[in-house]
Amino acid sequence: MSVSIDPAVAASLRGFEVPEKLGFGSVMAPVMFRATCQDGVWSGGELVPYAPLSLDPAAKVLHYAQSCFEGMKAYRTAGGVSLFRPERNAHRMAYSAERLCMPAVPEPLFMDGVKTVSAYCANLIPANSGESLYLRPFLIGTQPDLSVSASTSYEFYVIASPSEAYHAGNMRVWVERDDARAAVGGTGDAKVGGNYAASLQSIARLKKRGFDQSLWLNPGNRHTVDELSGMNFFAVMDGELHTPALNGSILEGVTRESLLMLAREQGYTVHERDIDIDDLMALVRSGTCSEAFACGTAAIISPISVLGDGNGLYELSAAPGPVAERLRSALLDIQEGRSEDAFGWMVPVDMVNLD
Ligand SMILES: Cc1ncc(COP(=O)(O)O)c(C=O)c1O
Repeated sequence: MSVSIDPAVAASLRGFEVPEKLGFGSVMAPVMFRATCQDGVWSGGELVPYAPLSLDPAAKVLHYAQSCFEGMKAYRTAGGVSLFRPERNAHRMAYSAERLCMPAVPEPLFMDGVKTVSAYCANLIPANSGESLYLRPFLIGTQPDLSVSASTSYEFYVIASPSEAYHAGNMRVWVERDDARAAVGGTGDAKVGGNYAASLQSIARLKKRGFDQSLWLNPGNRHTVDELSGMNFFAVMDGELHTPALNGSILEGVTRESLLMLAREQGYTVHERDIDIDDLMALVRSGTCSEAFACGTAAIISPISVLGDGNGLYELSAAPGPVAERLRSALLDIQEGRSEDAFGWMVPVDMVNLD
């Protein structure tokens, strides 16, 4: 690694205590990775103490939302610390950056960032199954200029948060028939801040109704299922696995892709297809759809116990169904090093001596 390490990093790490109650994404590790890009030329990366950013109030990111990010985890394993398919996150971040006319973070620099932060924060990774070090790489346009054009300067960061799983329990999901989180031809398949901003009003509304998450419909036809605000959607019908086909407004989840591979390996029939919401609800009501669950890096797999909309409630089992349970165990066993990594997904992190 050609990463420079700020001499103050050691003291920041020494002075940090991991709190007993972690939650998700609210405890920040005391160090962060930073690199800059000016006119297309990237600096080397550096590891520095975690600190507020200094941004010009006219920075493009603050006005025109030139900002994309990733979500991934470093896992504690018997052999040390490993990342799960980090190259998939590097590729997706490059795709998101390109969609917003930003320079892609070169993959070696992205890897330096996530590996360096994971190595220096190894002692902060919680040990219980399902817990991990959540990594948040992000890229922002920093040029101070109010014209609507792409920034000439960028900053790339990786921050980290020792975390529990995002939503370990079952979820009550509201079918969002009014708002859309992404437009046809828009940025739904990129991981950009604006998509999440557009989802917040829906979430605030449904929380008042006693629900946890919005289920987004395709913004073009308003009738087929896309995904949840931060997770992909799966349903089990007659013992077969169904998930919406990628269509430009769905984020291609690393967990989604990995579950599809695991499910095929386990002998399940898998369908990537358009799922009509009214058909889905009828199949839940008749019992043909026996399980529905959401998946993502943060949530892993969370069962959906209720699908609701203005017309009524469609109840599923509150406990994880057998298919969700089997897939969740298979995935976590690989991520946490308990089973053979047959797909070669895990990337070990070289440890550093902090003394
Ligand atoms: C909108 C959206 N869909 C799906 C996912 C799941 O993606 P992954 O499995 O890569 O975490 C996420 C989380 O990153 C997300 O934000």
